[in-house]
Amino acid sequence: MSSFFGLSPEQESLREIAHKFAADKIRPVAAGLDEASRFPAELINEAHSLGLINLTLPIELGGSGLSMFDACLVIEEIAWGCSGFATSMVANDLALTPIRIGGTEEQKRRFIEPIVTGGALASFCLTEPGAGSDAGGLQTTVEDDGNSWVINGSKQWITNAGYASQYTVFATIDRAKKHKGICCIAVPRSTPGITVGHHENKMGQRCSDTCSVTFDGVKVPKDYMIGAPGEGFKIAMQTLDASRPMTAGIAVGIARAACEHAVSYAKDRKQFGSPISSFQAIQFMLADMATAIESSRLLTMRSAWLLDQGKPASLESSMAKRMSADTAMSVATDAVQIYGGYGYTKDYPVEKLMRDAKLLQIYEGTSQIQRIVIARELLRA
Ligand code: CAA
Repeated sequence: MSSFFGLSPEQESLREIAHKFAADKIRPVAAGLDEASRFPAELINEAHSLGLINLTLPIELGGSGLSMFDACLVIEEIAWGCSGFATSMVANDLALTPIRIGGTEEQKRRFIEPIVTGGALASFCLTEPGAGSDAGGLQTTVEDDGNSWVINGSKQWITNAGYASQYTVFATIDRAKKHKGICCIAVPRSTPGITVGHHENKMGQRCSDTCSVTFDGVKVPKDYMIGAPGEGFKIAMQTLDASRPMTAGIAVGIARAACEHAVSYAKDRKQFGSPISSFQAIQFMLADMATAIESSRLLTMRSAWLLDQGKPASLESSMAKRMSADTAMSVATDAVQIYGGYGYTKDYPVEKLMRDAKLLQIYEGTSQIQRIVIARELLRA
């Protein structure tokens, strides 16, 4: 464990491995994957062989067993390479964390270990066409038919759904009970009745695979339910608390990439006979960008560190996610501004970063939802 303001030699070397992978493998193909909206299955496999996927899952189940702090170090580097790739990379942590939190030891062995050791993918299926921010209002049902659980309903915006071999599904056993009726169920992709929609044609993070998933009379054995009936909502919220620092880390990676590009361009680009970096208007923009990035990283690492100490971190995770997502958006937008007309074209990298950043303000709880969580925590205290 590092001190908060310095990294150990092991952490430096972990960060270097992630940076090298991002610089050598991801960056060279990122624009092409974006243009083609193509999922980089082969790169995901390479990341798996380097231990850069399943970052926070326990070593005894085949994961990398990193602390959240170390996982955030890694993910910032990967997102610096391409945030769509980073989103696909952490989706397994998101999908399997509910089982780590709520599953029995036997369920962890059955539903986490084969995915992680086999280099397979899993998806977290909470959001629905009519239930995004209002996760407690989900409509997918799970019924007891005596021998099995039977799932009916549709999930929307599911990361890696087209490539996943297992889904962690949140469904209600009694809609009238609202969040108290929500259950969490592990569902193998091979179960009859599952239909996966097309790879969504998104504005940004276009290489990450995002699809709908429909469950039509999908039957699974009784012991595929994670936790007791009705515990699913809390499991989902605890999972999001644990995952938001990594999402914040993705945002920091985007912002850092945008700021680096902007600094370098500002030194090269000449107007009025001087590099534009000599103008205070540009210097102030760069100074604000760098300050916002540093603040976002500190919040991110602080929330990760709290989780690593086993301390409550809903407030800090939401602060980190809110601040970092909004920073990614503003820094990428300012980077485009510094590039001027060139920044508005696909010939320069900041255009992609601006499109990619927008998703950070939307997925894993919008910036507005993070404010709700923060305000509730403040008012409760
Ligand atoms: N930990 C444990 N329990 C929690 C909790 C937490 N962090 N947050 C809430 N709960 C509990 C509450 O204590 C309450 O329990 P009791 O009934 O026992 O009192 C219960 O859950 C209901 O809580 P709320 O009344 O606060 O619930 P709400 O309906 O008002 O919703 C919300 C709260 C924060 C808005 C929640 O719905 C939410 O987080 N919405 C956003 C959903 C989201 O982030 N979706 C992202 C999907 S994943 C994704 O995008 C990833 C991807 O694939 C890219």
